[in-house]
Amino acid sequence: FRLQTRRQYFPPQHICRMADKKYLIGGNWKCNGTKESVAELVQTLNNGGDFPANAEVVVAPPFLFIDSVMQTIRPDIAVSTQNIGKNTKTGAFTGEIAAPMAKAFGLNWVITGHSERRSMEGETSAIVAEKSKIALDNGLSVIACCGEQLSDREAGNTLAVVLEDHLQAMVDAFSTEDWARVVIAYEPVWAIGTGVVASPEQAQEVHAAIRKFLSEKVSPEVSAATRVIYGGSVKGSNAGTLKDCPDIDGFLVGGAALTADFLTIINAVA
Ligand code: 13P
Repeated sequence: FRLQTRRQYFPPQHICRMADKKYLIGGNWKCNGTKESVAELVQTLNNGGDFPANAEVVVAPPFLFIDSVMQTIRPDIAVSTQNIGKNTKTGAFTGEIAAPMAKAFGLNWVITGHSERRSMEGETSAIVAEKSKIALDNGLSVIACCGEQLSDREAGNTLAVVLEDHLQAMVDAFSTEDWARVVIAYEPVWAIGTGVVASPEQAQEVHAAIRKFLSEKVSPEVSAATRVIYGGSVKGSNAGTLKDCPDIDGFLVGGAALTADFLTIINAVA
């Protein structure tokens, strides 16, 4: 009876979750928006009411809109880039945005290693780790993405890809202290933009494996403190179930982040 009473008030996931560990909800706007639609989206978010105290919210607009979003968005939403240059300095790097430039501009977050950059721009795990490290060295926080293709999953290679390829490169590149500013986003590629969300069991299995990997390769403390967020067809209608998984610490949202449904997702972590 005692155990039951305790469970009732402290479900297992809340016993495990560190008291000051907020859910991170990221909105990756990808390559979407016009001046008008971005202003409208900012307005929608600004009018969205108070966020839960345990939610930290970040949005990543395309570079073109970052300045206007930073100037107009509510102060409890941080702004991130979707990518960052491999160049460590400003200078003759046509088409790139440098990490020190982003930091000086007032940004505190970057997304690295999104599967669309890995597949479209040929970013390898080594490049993703290198970019992430440069961002970290310049005082930025990083949402570093990993995730298997459908063919990897079907071949039984999910953990080999996510842990031994994507995560190992980050573990090799980051110092123990760096991890305080790293969020891992697990985004199975087959779930991105498809409407096929990973089941809570599928997501939890990989999140738990990431947690174990970090514990073994970095430290138990880093493993416990690092937020591992899920991305891939997250909606207001499925966020509530996913957030109850003990190793899911938030979401990286694509399509739904362009609509008022993003507010439902944020409120789902309350
Ligand atoms: P969707 O939410 O549209 O599936 O995209 C997920 C994603 O790629 C976020 O980075």
